[in-house]
Amino acid sequence: MSDIWRDISYDNDTAPRAILERLKDLFGHEPYSQLIYCDVRNFLTYSNKRKFHSSNGMINNPGGSRLLNGDCLDVLKTIPENSVDFIFADPPYNIKKKYDNWNDAQDISNYFSWCDQWIAESARVLKPGRTFAIINIPLWIVRHFSFARSILDYQDWIAWEGLSLPVRKIMPAHYGIICFSKGRPIEIANHEKKARWETSQDFMNLKQWYCARASCIKKRNAAKITDRQPIGNLWWDIHRLKHNSKRVDHPCQLPPSLMKRLIHTFTKEGDLILDPFNGAGTTTLTSEMLGRKFIGIELSAKYHAIAEQRHLDLQKGRDPFAKNGTTPKAKNSRVARLQKQKYEVPKKTLQIEVKEIAIKLGRRPDREDIIRLSKYPVRYFDEYFIDWGEVCSAVGDKGMTENLSQPINTRPDDQQMQLSFG
Ligand SMILES: C[S@@+](CC[C@H](N)C(=O)[O-])C[C@H]1O[C@@H](n2cnc3c(N)ncnc32)[C@H](O)[C@@H]1O
Repeated sequence: MSDIWRDISYDNDTAPRAILERLKDLFGHEPYSQLIYCDVRNFLTYSNKRKFHSSNGMINNPGGSRLLNGDCLDVLKTIPENSVDFIFADPPYNIKKKYDNWNDAQDISNYFSWCDQWIAESARVLKPGRTFAIINIPLWIVRHFSFARSILDYQDWIAWEGLSLPVRKIMPAHYGIICFSKGRPIEIANHEKKARWETSQDFMNLKQWYCARASCIKKRNAAKITDRQPIGNLWWDIHRLKHNSKRVDHPCQLPPSLMKRLIHTFTKEGDLILDPFNGAGTTTLTSEMLGRKFIGIELSAKYHAIAEQRHLDLQKGRDPFAKNGTTPKAKNSRVARLQKQKYEVPKKTLQIEVKEIAIKLGRRPDREDIIRLSKYPVRYFDEYFIDWGEVCSAVGDKGMTENLSQPINTRPDDQQMQLSFG
């Protein structure tokens, strides 16, 4: 199971029963006995905002596009206030990636205080009414959210389903892209958008249950059913760059189609786009291809040179994102994964035994029952399974009784309720 739950819908007004059910299935095992649901939306306070104001509406556009090799904090300070139309930040995620000259394993409070500084500087240079988007893993994006919301206005939260590595019980499958505007966001009159609306993946999501089988596509075409729908805030149809043939020597390039969609959504031709962590140049290259101006800042001279070369290639008419014949040395991912486990007895055998014990007892066995009744040492159950739920997953009836202390679909009782696990 991943952390994107596309099979559950939620209407915002009633208690999220299906989500609670799933949480109950996932976590309702010993030693937990209660799940308390609190709707805190009414308690949020917005009083601590220190918003940026445009001084006399002054807009100072620094003009031409450029790539700058330097520390973004230093460079941002040289950019005039209220001068950039769209900012996209894809910072290092502090997950021990091997960068050319950046330590990606910092003390977390240092990491956050550094992030707060470039977020504040970026907010300063952003034009009023325009958007600043930050991408990060869910764990950190919530921290960026809380800081950014203290100085800017919340606009959108996009979940990009782009990561799938078995690193935890619930597989992390998405990045958060938080979007803030400086004051009320302006409407982008995007003519290109209208012209290509129905077909392009830049503007339209593939439909959720899209089937790529030729026979299914044929059937849909015959029935004049379009495979695409207007973009929502769950972007699951853009994939990470997995093939080395499309990567250059940088450890974490974003796919150009992600940048295309963001740029089309938040900018129009001629706008100035800033990326303070330009890496191998995905943002600035896409900007140039879409007729936008750009400023790309990159700390590493090596990555800066790669981006420069790719822009030169583009100007000579070559596609910088096309397959190339070289194999990049930089590894794409260094996220810690679950250790490979050696099993003395197959997990299935243990689960079948648990099922037999459950039938004998007439209930779901607990750990003490296993110590008493299993022919296998309890250490196998402790070490091989993520939790007791997995140990008992072959037991048909999970033995949980639901006891809602409040009726589920009515407000304001919805705002708090308890599920008891028997
Ligand atoms: C996640 S990568 C960005 C990748 C980029 N989006 C791409 O598709 O190529 C983060 C980049 O930030 C750069 N970086 C780290 N610290 C920086 C700083 N203080 N100023 C500017 N760039 C920095 C790293 O060298 C790295 O290339």
